[in-house]
Amino acid sequence: MKIGINTLLFSISQALDCVENALLGVATNHSRRVACVSMRICRRMGLSEADVFDMGTCAVLHDNALTEYMQAVGPERCRRLENLDIHCAAGERNARDFPFQGRADGVVLHHHENWDGSGVHKLRGEAIPLRAAALRLADNVDARFSLGTADPALPENVLAHVRRERERIYAPETADVFLELFGEDMLQDLSDERIDASLTEVMPPLEGELSMPQLLRICRIFSGIIDAKSPFTKNHSQGIAEKTGYMASFYGMDAERRDMLGVAAHLHDLGKLSIPADILEKPGSLSEEEFLVMRGHASMSWEILSGVAGMEDIALWAAGHHEKLDGTGYPFGRRAEELPFESRLLACVDIYQALTEERPYRAGMEHRRAMYILEGMAAHGKIDGDIVRKMGPALEHFSPEKCS
Ligand SMILES: [Fe+2]
Ligand SMILES: [Fe+2]
Ligand SMILES: [Fe+2]
Ligand SMILES: [Fe+2]
Repeated sequence: MKIGINTLLFSISQALDCVENALLGVATNHSRRVACVSMRICRRMGLSEADVFDMGTCAVLHDNALTEYMQAVGPERCRRLENLDIHCAAGERNARDFPFQGRADGVVLHHHENWDGSGVHKLRGEAIPLRAAALRLADNVDARFSLGTADPALPENVLAHVRRERERIYAPETADVFLELFGEDMLQDLSDERIDASLTEVMPPLEGELSMPQLLRICRIFSGIIDAKSPFTKNHSQGIAEKTGYMASFYGMDAERRDMLGVAAHLHDLGKLSIPADILEKPGSLSEEEFLVMRGHASMSWEILSGVAGMEDIALWAAGHHEKLDGTGYPFGRRAEELPFESRLLACVDIYQALTEERPYRAGMEHRRAMYILEGMAAHGKIDGDIVRKMGPALEHFSPEKCS
């Protein structure tokens, strides 16, 4: 299976932009705009194309730990951006597994440093890594001014801000290069309509391919981000990946199919990153309208994953985890004969995981009770009875302990 790093990065940026938008109210496409601006700065400063590429990667990933940070400090302190050191450290740790072209240590870790030493880790002046300084500028300017919006006062406000904060927040050389590059052309390239094309143009065409272990490592980072979106699902995707792994062994799948299934399991709820927390975390039943929004996560998973060349099958398996054999599921309402085995397997394991995992308002169900419910659903023609029968013995060892 061949997956291009660039295409995966672009899809990841789409998912991360949903989180930033939902949690902090930052304008859409934030990480993509930050990537475009910071890469342009670095290229103008004479960095190699490999370093520019890694700048783009770090920029796309710079706020990857936002959901983890919110769980650690709570939504209020998250909105006030307190204890950003947690966000920086977790972001750097997660990004470390990404296949960079060269070394990119400290770029994500230090994206909240100020030139005068008043930032998160009190790094000052030249001690701040150059690309972290470029990221600081692109990130802060976009977070404050939403560079994609068509506001006639924007250029003047941005220029005045960067000149004023040169040598306080921003590294002087980085600020000077930005001031040189900034103008109508750049703003047009950063608009919501142009941003995808701009990112493709600015990103060096280093279309390297990911190996399966690399892809799985990236997927683990993402299932962590998805699961941290809500305390209700703190181990959901990772638990499903673990259990589909057992099922794959039980069925004697070859290594490649098992790994592909693992990727689908880790990413099946990727679209949940775009669902508002109050719907995701509502303890009672959802209204019809809320349910419609919630259902949207499966089509969003499809939208994001199907855009990655080489992941067509995985996208289909992952997005189909709420389909039912009688056609009453979503997002496509497909019937048994149209559903790949992997989708049906994910659907069963997803229900099992949801029943057995602990929620803030209830304990997780034990294996046998969960299996009883799955058997009932199979008897009503909703899920695959053969898979359910095999799940009994394959996942039995999760009993009597409750699955977290
Ligand atoms: Fe940040
Ligand atoms: Fe940001
Ligand atoms: Fe789901
Ligand atoms: Fe799920």
